[in-house]
Amino acid sequence: MTRALSFIQPTGDVHLGNFLGALNQWTLGQHDVDGFYGVCDLHALTVTDTPSVIGQNTVKLAAILFAIGLDPDVSTVFVQSHVPEHAQLGWVMECIVSFGELSRMTQFKDKSAKREGEFIAAGLFTYPALMAADILLYDANEVPVGDDQRQHIEITRDIAIRFNSRFGDTFVVPKAVMPKTGARVMDLQDPTSKMSKSAATDNGLIYMLDDPTTILKKFKRAVTDSDSEVRYDRENKPGISNLLEIQAAATGRSPEDIAAGYTQYGPLKVDTGEAVIELLRPIQARYNELMTDRAQLSALLRSGAAKARATAAATLERAYNNIGFLPL
Ligand code: TYM
Repeated sequence: MTRALSFIQPTGDVHLGNFLGALNQWTLGQHDVDGFYGVCDLHALTVTDTPSVIGQNTVKLAAILFAIGLDPDVSTVFVQSHVPEHAQLGWVMECIVSFGELSRMTQFKDKSAKREGEFIAAGLFTYPALMAADILLYDANEVPVGDDQRQHIEITRDIAIRFNSRFGDTFVVPKAVMPKTGARVMDLQDPTSKMSKSAATDNGLIYMLDDPTTILKKFKRAVTDSDSEVRYDRENKPGISNLLEIQAAATGRSPEDIAAGYTQYGPLKVDTGEAVIELLRPIQARYNELMTDRAQLSALLRSGAAKARATAAATLERAYNNIGFLPL
């Protein structure tokens, strides 16, 4: 059976881009794959320096993962730091990837540029090595992610191929899997930039836990294009195309099909907002319920970590053996 793995970082609140680009794929596909999904708290440490924040965000994010419909009897849902093999294989990966390769990562360039003059952790630079470890530990064939992770999956493939040729066949070479619509949800106020937790203002971001009034208000204020034709054309009409794509991802239709039903921007904005509200309503209800029972949430994560660890430990041992470390 195909093995899938994907993670989300507990930094800031989860937004519609995370959901349509990644999380929704995880749930929709969970019965067709052997899926491992989780919260990568070790990665969050690259940009977080306040005590307790990561833990608090991790609980909320874990609740979201169950609220979107990941079934703990079907998928393995866990927290990265609960499985120490990630950090262990992460070091090995740092020795398989080169400084030059890491220097070419656009996410590092963007994130370090935004932090110019501030503390830039070395972990922000070596981040893709840990991400490669996350994926390779589980022999994942598929990594369901949004478009912004494409380069990180490419470098993971390069690392796996290099390790296999240096030390013998050890790792499965994975591929990125992206949704047809929603792989790159754009900021509603700046439709040429992706919706991102690190945006300067959150007026153009829809958070998964935003209430219906806020969601509708943000959609009504969405920046559109100068002419008034409703047409799906990402290059020339980024604002309208983003709305069409969001509505398409929320309803399972195609953006072109949705465009054919509108002659004006106003109704498109309102209907897209309403489609998103309906999509998020049951998730928000389940999230609120789950957050009232922290003990159950912890128990679910403990059993997810035990399942994940069994797989991760076997892969780490295989990698150590193939490298030829002296056995204990
Ligand atoms: P993160 O936490 O930034 O985002 C989680 C997922 O959401 C997707 N995403 C988007 N998709 C569409 N439109 C957007 N505007 C948008 N913004 C974010 C991301 O592509 C991602 O799939 N490095 C990863 C976390 C990670 C990981 C892994 C992922 C660590 N280890 C192993 C897969 C496999 C990240 O920072 O995602």
